[in-house]
Amino acid sequence: MKVMVIQGPNLNMLGVREQQIYGPMKLEQIHAQMKDFAGQNNVEIEFFQSNFEGEIVDKIQECYGEIDGIIINPAAYTHTSIAIRDAISAVAIPTVEVHISNIHRREEFRKENMIAPVCTSSIVGFGPFGYHLAQVGLFQVLQEVKAVQEAQAQQQAAQAE
Ligand code: DQA
Repeated sequence: MKVMVIQGPNLNMLGVREQQIYGPMKLEQIHAQMKDFAGQNNVEIEFFQSNFEGEIVDKIQECYGEIDGIIINPAAYTHTSIAIRDAISAVAIPTVEVHISNIHRREEFRKENMIAPVCTSSIVGFGPFGYHLAQVGLFQVLQEVKAVQEAQAQQQAAQAE
């Protein structure tokens, strides 16, 4: 199983930016923990961060046919990006959205969410631990998808006999 983690604008500044909201952990530390957990679950994991909307759209498109699941924090693009939403819809890969802060308790403009309706699930407000929760949830979903696919393949093979 392969999972892609996509981090949007300014998340490369974690550990520096607004620590009272996002905490002291750096992105590299979050990714190191995620990599450990993925390894324990025999999941291959890749990481990508960009401050550019088009690069994020390109990365989601590249996942098509290559990647089983996506974990994405679209950061500020959550609230504006129809392009990222359409890309997630287009590839139809199970996707979990993560927000470090609770976007529902912050400014009004952060309540607008373009991305959530096309995601399998959203995790908000747990700090960096939300990425761990996203992995637990996504790995479970992917195992269920795999089990259904295997059962279908067995059924087809039996019918062909
Ligand atoms: C964020 C919330 C967004 O509103 C904000 O623009 C971010 C980070 C979060 O993880 O809490 O950059 O996605």
